Amino acid sequence: MSDSEIIFCCCLLPSILALFLFFILIRRKQKRMFNLPPGDMGWPFLGETIGYLKPYSATTIGQFMEQHISRYGKIYKSNLFGEPTIVSADAGLNRFILQNEGRLFECSYPRSIGGILGKWSMLVLVGDMHRDMRIISLNFLSHARLRTHLLREVERHTLLVLKTWQHNSIFSAQDEAKKFTFNLMATHIMSLDPGVAETEQLKKEYITFMKGVVSPPLNLPGTPYRKALQSRSTILKFIKRKMDERTLRMNESGNNIGNPEDDDDLLGWVLKHSNLSTEQILDLILSLLFAGHETSSVAIALAIYFLPGCPNAIQQLMEEHSEIARAKKQAGETELNWEDYKKMEFTQCVISETLRLGNVVRFLHRKALKDVKYKGYDIPCGWKVLPVIAAVHLDPMLFDHPQHFNPWRWQVSHSFPQHAFHYYYYYYFIFCPKVKINNMKKKTNTKRERERESKS
Ligand code: HEM
Repeated sequence: MSDSEIIFCCCLLPSILALFLFFILIRRKQKRMFNLPPGDMGWPFLGETIGYLKPYSATTIGQFMEQHISRYGKIYKSNLFGEPTIVSADAGLNRFILQNEGRLFECSYPRSIGGILGKWSMLVLVGDMHRDMRIISLNFLSHARLRTHLLREVERHTLLVLKTWQHNSIFSAQDEAKKFTFNLMATHIMSLDPGVAETEQLKKEYITFMKGVVSPPLNLPGTPYRKALQSRSTILKFIKRKMDERTLRMNESGNNIGNPEDDDDLLGWVLKHSNLSTEQILDLILSLLFAGHETSSVAIALAIYFLPGCPNAIQQLMEEHSEIARAKKQAGETELNWEDYKKMEFTQCVISETLRLGNVVRFLHRKALKDVKYKGYDIPCGWKVLPVIAAVHLDPMLFDHPQHFNPWRWQVSHSFPQHAFHYYYYYYFIFCPKVKINNMKKKTNTKRERERESKS
């Protein structure tokens, strides 16, 4: 044995072993200190991620969740996306998590999402910067703008899509919904006209981008993720070109105010009313295009999928719409306006029920900022927390026959308690950044609330 080998055996090896033992004991101690929910941490590093992400129907919670809930209860621990995680199918804990956003929990999407949506995307940002971006988006999506611009654009784009439908022909509801939402978002964000070459080119790149966002984050040649990263940079170049054209136009007008129409789209609005850097504007625009397009196109396709199974709902929808059309004809009006929209109460119930049963977004990614105690369980600081919204939407304790498409369950009963919202959580079309749990005002007929009502 050489001298160096002797030194290694006598000094270093015991030190390494001591350190190893030290960390094992610390972990044991931590485990003893924390009363973690039951669960299985699965394989090293991979944990249970593969099982958790196995595809399943949107109207169910999937086999993985079902098995875990029946084995461990609605709150369990696991190892997902490479991190120790608490999964919550518990309506109370989900509400607690979202109510304590920024204080006890914060957004924590996997790093690959930041890589593809950009580090300034609202899904990735936390803290003050997130608040600032949210305020900018909310100011743009103000009520007044929704009333005047968005409603008119929705009508225009709907009619454009409907005109292309041939009588008795077969079409893909999902493709049509994607076409509609992409064109609507492209108009709203950058005033792009549907059908023109540059919009179609952007759409092509966007489709490649989207495929990568929902695929495993493997940055290897030929993978959808790598292709999506390439499409991301092409899309950003496109937006940058539009931004330069717009800035030039504003500067040419001499007063940096530009045309009043520049305020009509998000690009013009952020250029005029915010101090965001070029990089921030590019990420904001791309992530809003993504957030608005993916979710609403799936929701529209799901409504088309659910409705034929409920002929009474189709009948009631048609009656509601025909009545509005009749009244407009009598008044000599053509375009839909905000008053018409407000009359569509049953339509709103159909949308709410589609979002509940369709679960466009099934779970959210959060992280504990401090050690948190909930119902006797500990959620250690730094652990990931996944509130599974779908499990609440499909919970038979909260919704009668949850698998049943029943828009009438959303009809407002005036004697309804204000805290009716406490037991479920869902985001509302268009107003997402605004809709955090504490300012949701809509009421619903959940099972528990009806029971409480009948007792009082
Ligand atoms: C049916 C349609 C939609 C559904 C189901 C939906 C769902 C959601 C959900 C669940 C989140 C929360 C993500 C989280 O907190 O972790 C979210 C956030 C967001 N959504 Fe939507 N969304 C829809 C439509 C839209 C549209 C049309 C836009 C934009 C025009 C949009 C913009 C956003 C933005 C910017 C955020 C981030 C908000 C923030 O972090 O404060 N969404 N959406």
